[in-house]
Amino acid sequence: MALGDDYRRTSLHAFRLIATYSPAIKLVGNVTVAVVLCYGGWRVLGGRTEVGVLAAFLLYVRRFFEPMQELSQFYNSLQSATAALEKLAGVLDEPPAVAEPPRPVPLPAGPGRGELAFRAVSFGYRADTPILAGLELTVPAGQTVALIGPTGAGKSTIAKLVARFHDPDTGTVRLDGVDLRDVGDADLRRAVVLVTQENHLFSGTVAENIRFGRPGADDAAVQAAARAIGAHEFIAALPDGYATQVHRRGGRLSAGQRQLVAFARAFLADPTVLILDEATSSLDVPTERLVQRALGTILRDRTALVIAHRLSTVETTDRVLVIDGGRIVEDGPPAVLAEADGRYAALHRQWRDSLV
Ligand SMILES: Nc1ncnc2c1ncn2[C@@H]1O[C@H](COP(=O)(O)OP(=O)(O)O)[C@@H](O)[C@H]1O
Ligand SMILES: [Mg+2]
Repeated sequence: MALGDDYRRTSLHAFRLIATYSPAIKLVGNVTVAVVLCYGGWRVLGGRTEVGVLAAFLLYVRRFFEPMQELSQFYNSLQSATAALEKLAGVLDEPPAVAEPPRPVPLPAGPGRGELAFRAVSFGYRADTPILAGLELTVPAGQTVALIGPTGAGKSTIAKLVARFHDPDTGTVRLDGVDLRDVGDADLRRAVVLVTQENHLFSGTVAENIRFGRPGADDAAVQAAARAIGAHEFIAALPDGYATQVHRRGGRLSAGQRQLVAFARAFLADPTVLILDEATSSLDVPTERLVQRALGTILRDRTALVIAHRLSTVETTDRVLVIDGGRIVEDGPPAVLAEADGRYAALHRQWRDSLV
């Protein structure tokens, strides 16, 4: 409130200054022209000055005052630019909450990698509200795991810990035995990819947007990734195909198409661990079908965490974890859990009924 008031007062002051300075300069300029005109006209009439000299003089006077006028505007923009730069610098100076390790440990390479382990992980966004408490979870390499549960259960939080957007307060998250805190940033971003509902498309072409998955990939690789997940058809139908310009946040692409581009990007990145956080929730039914088929391709042979609300997605996974209140309350293959008499079975029945 006080800040807003202060801002209002300062803005008012600034505008008053502008409103004074700018017309004042103009006034002085015009008065000068008038004086020159009168005095010069009098001299011309008296035959002591030629008309040409007077005209030239008037032009110079005008020329002299134009930059003065501009200067007032320039100073104004300079001030706002400086203020903006200060804010930018503030953001750039902000130390990252998850620091890059001084001596990064390389992730073991080779096929069959991607074992995820949560060991006694406790985490809260604020100290007084723990979200996860002592979470234990092992996901063997190559397994596709569905996380389901009510809103606010902590599913996205688990996903964010795997992508190391945050570090656990206590305990460790390990990928192939290496604590994520010890993995270098570049290594980690290559190994773990998180696809969410809102995907960022960058200004540039569709091809460039897919290529972000693996900078340096050639056009053939980009197209192969798009084909693999079924995005090629719609991209080829765009006005300029792969060279079509998209704007920030996707511009002319539909939500489903943006999602397909994001999947193609993830597929090209070929991460060890792929996390989909409600990545298919915003899609319409035909696009969802398309993405469903794509998912099969993307998830094959890699560790995956899939947070989804649709039975069709959950049923295709190897293992279901029901999360509630930051705890794993059920854990097992979907077919087995559906037969048991628990939360998943109840959800499963609801899904079945809603299909009718
Ligand atoms: N950035 C955040 N800051 C503070 N609290 C958060 C933040 N993100 C999520 N939470 C809280 O953490 C809890 C779990 O959220 P989340 O993991 O997003 O749940 P889910 O994905 O299962 O719906 C919720 O109570 C939510 O309000
Ligand atoms: Mg969530």
